[in-house]
Amino acid sequence: MELIHEGKAKRVFADPDSNNRVIIEFSDSVTAGDGAKKDAFPDKGSIACDISELLFSYLEGKGIDTHYIKRLKGPQLLCKKVTIFPVEVVCRNIAAGSFSKRYGVEKGIKFEKPLVEFFVKDDSLHDPLITMGALTRIGLVSRDVLQFLTRVTLSVNYYLSELLKQQGLTLIDFKLEFGMTEDNTIVLADEISPDTMRIWDNKSTSLDKDVFREGKGDLISVYKKLLDTLRASKPEDVEIVKEVVQVIVEPKSGIKNPPGEVTKKALMRLGFAEVDDVRVGKVFNIILKKPITTEILNHLNIMNVKLLSNPISEKHKVRLE
Ligand code: TMP
Ligand code: ASP
Repeated sequence: MELIHEGKAKRVFADPDSNNRVIIEFSDSVTAGDGAKKDAFPDKGSIACDISELLFSYLEGKGIDTHYIKRLKGPQLLCKKVTIFPVEVVCRNIAAGSFSKRYGVEKGIKFEKPLVEFFVKDDSLHDPLITMGALTRIGLVSRDVLQFLTRVTLSVNYYLSELLKQQGLTLIDFKLEFGMTEDNTIVLADEISPDTMRIWDNKSTSLDKDVFREGKGDLISVYKKLLDTLRASKPEDVEIVKEVVQVIVEPKSGIKNPPGEVTKKALMRLGFAEVDDVRVGKVFNIILKKPITTEILNHLNIMNVKLLSNPISEKHKVRLE
């Protein structure tokens, strides 16, 4: 098989049977601290592959698009071929790891709301944290795509957290990667395993790679325990939540906007002399049965053109934040 890419814990091969599929093979090696710490544990690749398979299938079942197609023999997954976006998307529910270190925040502090962060995928720069503004200025990923990735990451956070909660476990944080398929669909890619998540039991004991990072136990038995716990979970009991996206329709500039003129006159009469102009548009809250996907985004745009807005006099925007 032709090797397309070699990562620290995975190898990606071209699928000999199809141009738009790849075979991802999980290896037994483990690294931490930007590659400073390195080891290998027999069976680690196969357990990480089992966990990724289980979680990708679970998320697909809840309506999240992933690259996963099927399990192959050994520690291999057959996946859709994608072009990976050059950002790592990290979601945190509880302070730990680089967040605690960077901001001097005690490990274990729970956030009021999950936090989504972006890191540049570039080993030579040591994968730095980056703002959405800087990412769009550099032109690495567009704002629309970043907003979409944020939205999907928050859905993944909900579904993974709920599944783990059933078993008395807490999802502390995790890292996701996304890619674009050949038919222009953005899907969740890479892996979801204890190599890329932090999970604690009810005694704040780690069931993830922190065991290796911090040298505090036997990695294989911990990974196995997590796999067994996930196998005993009941994905069907996790409720699919409805999501809302906003479609904002605005009058195009230069087009007369009588409701805006009426409002402006009323504001002037009330003494708001600083108002220069008012343009009135519409907001549609569209409630979805499942998480947003690129297919749903396309549908929303078509819906708009056909029904919600008048493309001659109005412009529309699907708002994901
Ligand atoms: P961090 O606290 O080191 O930034 O990590 C946050 C989460 O992202 C944690 O669950 C581990 C995961 N992660 C990776 O999967 N790969 C990486 O290269 C890094 C830095 C973190
Ligand atoms: N996985 C990264 C590395 O190998 C960092 C980490 O997860 O600690 O360096």
